[in-house]
Amino acid sequence: MSYPTSVKIVEVSARDGLQNEKEIISVSDKLNLINGLRQAGVKHIEVTGFVSPKWVPQLADAKEVCAALNTNDDTADSHVQYSALTPNLKGLDAAIESNIKEVAVFTAASETFNQKNINCSIDESFARFEPLIDKAIGSGMKVRGYVSCVLGCPYEGDIHPAVVAQVAKRLHAMGCYEVSLGDTIGVGTPLAAKKMFDLCAEQIPTDQLALHFHDTYGQALANIHTCLQSGASVIDSSVAGIGGCPYAKGATGNVSTENVVYMLNGMGIETGIDLGDLIKVGQQISTILGRSSHSQVLNALYV
Ligand code: HMG
Ligand code: MG
Repeated sequence: MSYPTSVKIVEVSARDGLQNEKEIISVSDKLNLINGLRQAGVKHIEVTGFVSPKWVPQLADAKEVCAALNTNDDTADSHVQYSALTPNLKGLDAAIESNIKEVAVFTAASETFNQKNINCSIDESFARFEPLIDKAIGSGMKVRGYVSCVLGCPYEGDIHPAVVAQVAKRLHAMGCYEVSLGDTIGVGTPLAAKKMFDLCAEQIPTDQLALHFHDTYGQALANIHTCLQSGASVIDSSVAGIGGCPYAKGATGNVSTENVVYMLNGMGIETGIDLGDLIKVGQQISTILGRSSHSQVLNALYV
C-alpha cells in the first residue's frame, strides 16, 4: 500500500467552522484563532468568506478580519497562504481590496443544494465564475474550486460520482488550481469515497484534488484514509471539528485537524503542524464557543 510522504492541510475553521455558529464571535477572537493556527505551523488558512452578510451574518466582518491579518513576519519559509470564499464578482472585488491572494469559488453536484446555497443552478454558477476566475487569475491570484454534496445531498439524496467528476472537471478546466471535494453532510463511507475520488482523479491530477469531509456520521477519517491510498495529498479540516453549513440541515463540522494530524503523525506522513500547539488552539476556540470540542484527539490529549 502506498501513501504520500507529506500532506497539505487546508485549515477551514475560521470560515467553514465559524459560519455555522449561532453566536457571532469578535474579530479579535477570529484573529487569535487564525494566528494560533499559524503559530502551530498551518500554512494554508481559509480565513473568511466575502459572501452576502444577509445570507451568512457570521462572516459580515470579512474585511476587518483580513485587514488585521498578520503578514509582517512572512518570509519564504514562514509564508502562510490566506484564502477566502468568493461567490461572485462583488466578493472577488472585496477580496482584492482586502489584499487576499487566493480565493475559492463554490458550486455543487446537486441542483437543489446550489439553489439553497448560492441561489442559482449549477450552469448559472459557472457563468458567474467565468469572469470572476479570469479577473482573479489576471490579478495574479490563485483560485480554488469547491464541489459540494460529493457523497450525498440533504435534499436529493444519492449523488452519482460521475456528476461530481464532471463538475470538478469544469472547475479545473476554468482555471481552479485545486478542486476540493465536499462531503457537505458527512454521509459518505470509504468505498463510496474512493469510487468518487478515483473518478475525479481520471480528470484531474491527484495532487490538485482536496478532500473536504464533514464528520457528521464519524466516517471522515476512514474516508480520508481510503483516498490517501488512491493518491490524495490535500486535506481540508477544522480545529476542534467546528463547522457545518447553514444550508445543509444536520451537517456537523469538518473532520477535526487534531484527528487528522494525529492519524498522519502515526503513519509517518509529514504535515508541518505541531499537534501540541494545535490542541491549545482547539481548546481555546471551544471555550470561546462555550462548548466541548468535537475532536477526540483534543479531548484525549488536552491537560
Ligand atoms: P442573491 O440574493 O441571489 O444575490 O445571493 P444578488 O446578487 O441578488 O444580491 C442580493 C444582495 O446581496 C445585494 O444587496 C447585493 O449587494 C448583496 P442589497 O442590494 O439587497 O442590499 N451581495 C453581496 N454582499 C456581500 N458580498 C457579496 C455579495 N453578493 C451580493 N459577495 C449570493 C447570491 C451568492 C450572494 C448569496 O447566495 C450568498 O452570499 N451565498 C453564500 C452562501 C454561503 O456562504 N454558504 C456557505 C459557504 S459554502 C459551504 O459551506 C460548502 C463548502 O464548505 C464545501 C462543502 O462543505 O461542501 C465550501
Ligand atoms: Mg464545508
